[in-house]
Amino acid sequence: MLPRLMLLLWLLKGEIPGAHGGSSLDAARSLVWGPGLDPEVVLPARYFFIQAVDGKGRNLTSSPGEKAFKVNMETDAEAFTRIWVQVLDRQDGSFLVRYRMYASYTDLHIHIQHKDKPVGKSPYVLKGPVYHEACNCPQPSGAEWEKRMKCPDSFPQIDEDLSVFRHVDPDLIAREVPARFGQRQSLCHYTLKNNQVYVKTFGEHVGFRIFMDSILLSLTRKVQLPDIEFFVNLGDWPLEKSKSTAKIHPIFSWCGSNNTRDIVMPTYDLTESVLETMGRVSLDMMSVQANTGPPWPQKNSTAFWRGRDSRQERLELVKLSRAHPDVIDAAFTNFFFFKHNESLYGPLVKHVSFFDFFKYKYQINMDGTVAAYRLPYLLAGDSLVLKQDSGYYEHFYSQLQPWIHYVPIRADLSDLLEKIQWAKNHDDQARSIAQRGQQFARSHLMGDQIFCYYYKLFQKYAALQITEPKVREGMELVEHPTDDLFPCDCQRTKPNTEAKDEL
Ligand SMILES: *[C@@H]1O[C@H](CO)[C@@H](O)[C@H](O)[C@H]1NC(C)=O
Ligand SMILES: *[C@@H]1O[C@H](CO)[C@@H](O)[C@H](O)[C@H]1NC(C)=O
Ligand SMILES: *[C@@H]1O[C@H](CO)[C@@H](O)[C@H](O)[C@H]1NC(C)=O
Ligand SMILES: *[C@@H]1O[C@H](CO)[C@@H](O)[C@H](O)[C@H]1NC(C)=O
Repeated sequence: MLPRLMLLLWLLKGEIPGAHGGSSLDAARSLVWGPGLDPEVVLPARYFFIQAVDGKGRNLTSSPGEKAFKVNMETDAEAFTRIWVQVLDRQDGSFLVRYRMYASYTDLHIHIQHKDKPVGKSPYVLKGPVYHEACNCPQPSGAEWEKRMKCPDSFPQIDEDLSVFRHVDPDLIAREVPARFGQRQSLCHYTLKNNQVYVKTFGEHVGFRIFMDSILLSLTRKVQLPDIEFFVNLGDWPLEKSKSTAKIHPIFSWCGSNNTRDIVMPTYDLTESVLETMGRVSLDMMSVQANTGPPWPQKNSTAFWRGRDSRQERLELVKLSRAHPDVIDAAFTNFFFFKHNESLYGPLVKHVSFFDFFKYKYQINMDGTVAAYRLPYLLAGDSLVLKQDSGYYEHFYSQLQPWIHYVPIRADLSDLLEKIQWAKNHDDQARSIAQRGQQFARSHLMGDQIFCYYYKLFQKYAALQITEPKVREGMELVEHPTDDLFPCDCQRTKPNTEAKDEL
């Protein structure tokens, strides 16, 4: 047996003796792949992966050290590139390299090194123009764009959401939707015409429009979108409650529910985090992968939850935690919706950084106002997610399976203690569910997939339209932010934007 202190020191250094079979990282045999090596995949933050491999060709399964790989980007034309690069250690022998470009370049060389030796087939050369996020340079062929993005042929949720519409009549919805919802709800009426975005808002609280504007502009900079006309619900709750198929209006929402027929999009939170990765946000689907806390065996096996009081069941959860503090650590960081009673719901606790959630082995996912928009990030960690059954869902829930990607708990939490006990008694199974959840998040919820989802949704919706989408009275053009510092030289054929102005 190893002396405890020595083992502890090894663990602290991220080196476990024997974990790599004694052999060390082989730069040339290490693997490099991902969308960030294709010049045509334009993302706000591009990314690729490195898998560390040893001299015998075996993948490393624990970190060879945070600084194992050095990544450097350059072009022949300029001495300095305005590219911010980050190498994120996923602690499992793989690394995620992400980079945000602030200007466009031609023939970008990516050098990857381990102790001065080139890694994989480094340097990787991205030939031709490599556009940055702000460059308005749409790929004219949607089919070509989808191929380069490796978009799936379909998303089950899109097919289901659109299945209730035999067709969509833009002339009709332009009249009926504002009359039906426009007085009480916060709505945006969008028309995309010749890859330009036009909008008219209804209702008072339309601030959340910025998320929709941003994703639409970002998409139209990347790919030519079909002409479409649609309504976006900016509120939390889905709206279309009509039971009769004939009366259903197409309403795009950020959250769906079992008793509404809204067309679901990725949440504004996830959308924003994709657009602002390495920008305004610090929690995104990439940063979370490098901050998953201690390895599984060292995680604290108290179930964990933090949040605000946006739903009755959350109050119940905190009460349960107070009755069983050795099993559940659940507390409020904010009180807003219900009357705060400290004797029942405890003192408010300080906000905990999301990355610190992963010190705990079991994460409880509870509905808030609607679905809890943190689920993508929770899944991406390496903790087990215990998900409350819910009538609310996000765009990817239909692909998630209980007992495969998460452990289900009843809506009223009556089996929560039992499920936590199950996880403790079946640690190996719990761990593999956690890993499959993580794998799901890594392969389905990254930025490129989010762009694919929006594109596919608009494409399939466009195919249902039976009258021509129009720029309606009162709509305004949504302009791209100006990028005067680093304008780009778009070398693609410009899509036709010279059609007559219909305003
Ligand atoms: C090593 O990792 C890569 C990347 O995840 C994977 O494709 C490959 O199958 C793994 N190889 C082995 C031998 O497990
Ligand atoms: C695990 O977390 C609980 C609740 O946050 C805490 O009371 C306990 O001390 C932690 N256990 C260890 C071993 O750190
Ligand atoms: C808080 O809850 C306790 C226990 O149910 C009750 O006795 C007390 O009146 C409540 N206080 C307030 C301010 O609601
Ligand atoms: C909502 O529908 C899903 C899928 O049919 C189901 O699994 C879930 O139990 C339902 N939840 C509620 C609270 O209605």
